[in-house]
Amino acid sequence: MSSFILRGNIISSRDAHTLDITENGYAVCDDGICRGVYTMPPERYASLPVVDCTDKLIIPGMVDLHIHASQYAYRGMGMDLELLDWLDSYAFPEESKFSDAEYAKKAYTIFANAMRKSATTRACIFATAHSGATQILMELLDKTGLFSFVGKVNMDRDAPDSLREHDADSAAEDTEAWVRNTLSRYERTKPILTPRFIPSCTDKLMKLLGEIRQKYDLPVQSHLSENLGEIELVRSLRPDSAYYGDAYARDGLFGDGKLSHTVMAHCVWSGDTELDVMQKNGVFIAHCPASNMNVASGIAPVRRYLERGMRMGLGSDVAGGQTESMFRAMTDTIQVSKLYWRLVDTTKKPLGLEEAFYLATRGGGEFFGKVGAFEDGYEFDAVVLDDSQLKHPQPLDIRQRLERAVYLGVDMFGITAKYAAGRKIDIS
Ligand code: GUN
Ligand code: FE
Repeated sequence: MSSFILRGNIISSRDAHTLDITENGYAVCDDGICRGVYTMPPERYASLPVVDCTDKLIIPGMVDLHIHASQYAYRGMGMDLELLDWLDSYAFPEESKFSDAEYAKKAYTIFANAMRKSATTRACIFATAHSGATQILMELLDKTGLFSFVGKVNMDRDAPDSLREHDADSAAEDTEAWVRNTLSRYERTKPILTPRFIPSCTDKLMKLLGEIRQKYDLPVQSHLSENLGEIELVRSLRPDSAYYGDAYARDGLFGDGKLSHTVMAHCVWSGDTELDVMQKNGVFIAHCPASNMNVASGIAPVRRYLERGMRMGLGSDVAGGQTESMFRAMTDTIQVSKLYWRLVDTTKKPLGLEEAFYLATRGGGEFFGKVGAFEDGYEFDAVVLDDSQLKHPQPLDIRQRLERAVYLGVDMFGITAKYAAGRKIDIS
């Protein structure tokens, strides 16, 4: 069934600062596409079945713009190091295990099930450098009904033998074969070109990836300006680059405003030149507050990015972040923005619920097209929340209930239904 009407308390971002709330309203889904929200069901949709979620909260599906499926197994562990040492000590040893298809199947089944049950309906996902294991992940994700871009990670330097790709030529060959194999193999799962970050990729590999990107018009995901040690390393590895992002831009891996989208995680330390180019090229920022705290990278100046009108969403960045919960990502976004305002720059006022909710839905949703809002023409991604376990003696309005649901993590226990492009997702 992909044509129906959901009845309940419907919440959707109009823009970065405004929530539209319709108390016990009707959200129309016609063949997977939203046809608006109404206080009464419109006559022309009278034949559609009404799914009664009276008194529940109905929100757009969450969009996770940055998560590592291959790090899910060690989430919440190994939080004692900064980025480069953290990669060597935890990420690379774990990711090496995915050369074993049995291990990959076990780990990715756990990950796919967690994503199925979460409030997320769309995600940009890193796998590992192993194309076989990446295909196992894509297969599992497609079965969930979620929409995702999945990247076979490219890395041909500075990593253990068990993980590092042999050389630039074989890495590019393997990547192109994986792209061909997966480009139209799945309904809801698509390949995304994924150079891990500049320290992991030789100049030659970046050049070859740029050619593959152009040949297949692929989207791109990577990391950018996350940590000061990393930025220093990039400066020494790529002295020809004017700024970190320039090392991607030189090979056509930094968007161009027209072709398939590019998303860069973190941007904690991006300067004005980098931001100007990202804005011109339409590159998305994936703000990952939990990860920025856990590996102590710093606080991304999200208010500054909102003021500039950057394209931006949120990422859980598991396992730099400890949880796939996008409610936690929203809460962290608000909280770190308060610390930034208090400790770093008092002209950058903290974000509020409206802005965090916008980033987790509509802001990141734009990467996937018309996604992240209950508006005519948008794909119908919806999550139904039952917050009745949270007792309260006083009356609460819908916005207060949403704020409380976000802060108290109702996505971890109170999801009763979830839809992606109108298809009901099995959350059992
Ligand atoms: N930069 C390069 N690889 C990674 C990763 O796996 N996690 C994070 N947070 N940053 C990275
Ligand atoms: Fe990451």
